Amino acid sequence: MSRMAGKVALITGAGNGMGRSHAVRLAEEGADIIALDLPGAAADLAETARLVGEAGRRAAVGAADVRDLAAVQAGVDAGVAELGRLDVVVANAGVCDNPGPAWTIDAPVWQRSLDINLTGVWHTVKAAAPSIGADGGSVVIVSSTAGMKAVAGAAHYSASKHAVIGLMRTLANELGPRSIRVNALLPGAVGTAMTLNPATFARLRPDLADPTAEDVMEVLARNHLLPVPWVESADVSNALLFLVSDEARYITGTELVVDAGLTQKV
Ligand SMILES: NC(=O)c1ccc[n+]([C@@H]2O[C@H](COP(=O)([O-])OP(=O)(O)OC[C@H]3O[C@@H](n4cnc5c(N)ncnc54)[C@H](O)[C@@H]3O)[C@@H](O)[C@H]2O)c1
Repeated sequence: MSRMAGKVALITGAGNGMGRSHAVRLAEEGADIIALDLPGAAADLAETARLVGEAGRRAAVGAADVRDLAAVQAGVDAGVAELGRLDVVVANAGVCDNPGPAWTIDAPVWQRSLDINLTGVWHTVKAAAPSIGADGGSVVIVSSTAGMKAVAGAAHYSASKHAVIGLMRTLANELGPRSIRVNALLPGAVGTAMTLNPATFARLRPDLADPTAEDVMEVLARNHLLPVPWVESADVSNALLFLVSDEARYITGTELVVDAGLTQKV
């Protein structure tokens, strides 16, 4: 109940999916939350804030596209002013699509992936790291199993998720002297809209006219060592909680994989 007591955590992409789940899990353990998401995601952020409130903690919400450094900086600064400090940074916002082989990807599609998934993470840390206090803290960069292995038809995504591992390792060196730990979280297939959507269903089950989540369960489970089709957001949030808690106080510069065995399947 109190592994994060007295802490403030910044989470980007907190209006939905895993970002919301992370916000609620950290709040359940006593953290106040600075929740950022896209302009236009106000209703989603309000729901995240409501759930954080239900867990007994405060949420400061802000509109910031992670591609916009000034907006991210403003969101971080307003959140820190409202909640009084910053201990944890979770660079979670990201996008994924599956345009096809690398040489067929349109330049704007490639650029969007790199701008959000790589430069957006750098913007987040750039804006937030100076506000982490003298007693140290923790940064978690959300990569993916696509940061460890290839993903068919998504070179831009895989490249961006590999790239943030390099950023994480460098930041771990640069922020270590300030007692700020920096790690990467690598989820496999997670049951959010990023994985469970009609385009993915159609790609995984081209034999069906209008496939559903249920229709892709068996296909996805085949990728795993454990007999499950995907990982739940709550399980990824529990791994995040461990990484940012004092239980992980000497863990930095590393990658925590939560993938039901996807990366080790032969
Ligand atoms: N779902 C998966 O299977 C999976 C697997 C591995 C890694 N991941 C990574 O986990 C993170 C969260 O994914 P999710 O599954 O919760 O996705 P999601 O689509 O459910 O939620 C993503 C959130 O990020 C926000 N967002 C998107 N672009 C943004 C931008 N430019 N600026 C600010 N916010 C933005 C969205 O509005 C949304 O609230 C992403 O970095 C994703 O790449 C997801």
